[in-house]
Amino acid sequence: MSREVILYIGVSLDGFIAKEDDDLQWLYEVEGEGDNGYSEMYATIDTTIMGKRTYDYVIEHAESFPYPEKKNYVFTTSDQGSNEYVDFVNEDVVAFTKKLKDQKGAKIWMVGGASILDDFIKENLIDEYIITVTPHILGSGIPLFREKNPQINLTLIDTKRFGQFVQLHYIVK
Ligand SMILES: NC(=O)c1ccc[n+]([C@@H]2O[C@H](COP(=O)([O-])OP(=O)(O)OC[C@H]3O[C@@H](n4cnc5c(N)ncnc54)[C@H](OP(=O)(O)O)[C@@H]3O)[C@@H](O)[C@H]2O)c1
Repeated sequence: MSREVILYIGVSLDGFIAKEDDDLQWLYEVEGEGDNGYSEMYATIDTTIMGKRTYDYVIEHAESFPYPEKKNYVFTTSDQGSNEYVDFVNEDVVAFTKKLKDQKGAKIWMVGGASILDDFIKENLIDEYIITVTPHILGSGIPLFREKNPQINLTLIDTKRFGQFVQLHYIVK
C-alpha cells in the first residue's frame, strides 16, 4: 500500500492561507484549544514537502526549524543541495511525490503553500485533507485553491472544534 499524502493547513472562512504580504498574525491570534490537533497529525508523518516561500517564512519566523526529526523537502528552482534540516529539490514535484509514496514510511505532510499545492491538486495527489478553518473573512490574500482544478469528491470522516477553530477531516473517495 502506498503512503498517504495529507494536506494539513489553516485557512480563513473565505479560503485564504495568508494575507497578500504573507502576514499570518491573524491565524496565530485565534483562540484555539491545546495545540489544535497538531501533535496528533505530526505523529502520523515522517516526511514534509513545502514550497520555497513557505520554507522562507518558517525560517524567518520560527525560533528553530520546527520539523527537525522529519525528512523535509523544499521545492525550489533557485536553491540546491541541502542543509541540516532540508533537501532543496528542483524536480518534477508530481513524479517525485509518486516515487516517495511508493517507498516505505509514514504519511507525507504537504505543508503548502498554495503554489506547490496547486501541482498536487491538479493531479489529485492529496489523499487526506485536514483543513482548520479560522473565524475570519480575510477579504483577500493567497487563496488555498486556484482555478481549473479537477473535481475531487471527498468523504468527511471527522470534525473537531478547537476553541474558535473548526477542523474538517476528509479523505478522497
Ligand atoms: N495558513 C497556513 O497554514 C499556511 C501553510 C503554508 C504556507 N502558508 C503561507 O503561504 C505563503 C506561501 O505560499 P505561496 O503559494 O506563495 O508559495 P509556496 O508554494 O510556499 O512556494 C512557492 C515557491 O516554491 C517553489 N515551487 C513551487 N512549485 C514548484 C515546483 N513544482 N518545482 C520547483 N519549485 C516549486 C518556487 O520557488 P522558487 O521561486 O525558489 O523556484 C515557488 O516560487 C506564505 O505566506 C506562507 O506563510 C500558510
